[in-house]
Amino acid sequence: MRFQYRILNILLSTTILLGLSACGPSPDPSSKAGNGASQSVASTPRSRMPSDSALKSLYIQSCYGCHSSGAAGAPRSGNIADWAPRLQKGMDVLLHNTIHGINSMPPKGMCIACSDEEFTQLILFLSGQRE
Ligand code: HEC
Repeated sequence: MRFQYRILNILLSTTILLGLSACGPSPDPSSKAGNGASQSVASTPRSRMPSDSALKSLYIQSCYGCHSSGAAGAPRSGNIADWAPRLQKGMDVLLHNTIHGINSMPPKGMCIACSDEEFTQLILFLSGQRE
């Protein structure tokens, strides 16, 4: 009799715990508001492309997937507000972080064949310092 009571008790508390965890905080839709409002270039990051055709194909194959849309918090192509705090680190640090990766940014930005010079040009393009 006693044993059965204990089982019932455990079952009950598990149900309560499960019920509580289902009531966790829901995502706040307002946190996304204003996204894109800081857009400070005329062309959108999606349509912006390097003028050099070789650089353009490297860009499309690698950086574009994340940096055109700002996926996973990537600073958007040509967006001055997104890039200002990054540029303060200096080009050496940006190149190092591109090659070795930083947080959700994968090492080499998925361009295994890119040279240091090509990375430098891609960073200059992304940060709006060259077309
Ligand atoms: C899979 C998505 C993804 C791809 C592909 C990608 N990036 Fe990134 N990148 C990110 C994210 C996310 C960040 C922001 C990382 C952070 O600071 O948390 C970032 C940040 C950066 C930064 C700023 C680093 C710093 O120190 O602030 C540079 C420079 C950069 N990326 C260059 C590139 C280049 C060049 C390419 C293409 C060769 C590329 N990325 C491809 C996702 C990506």
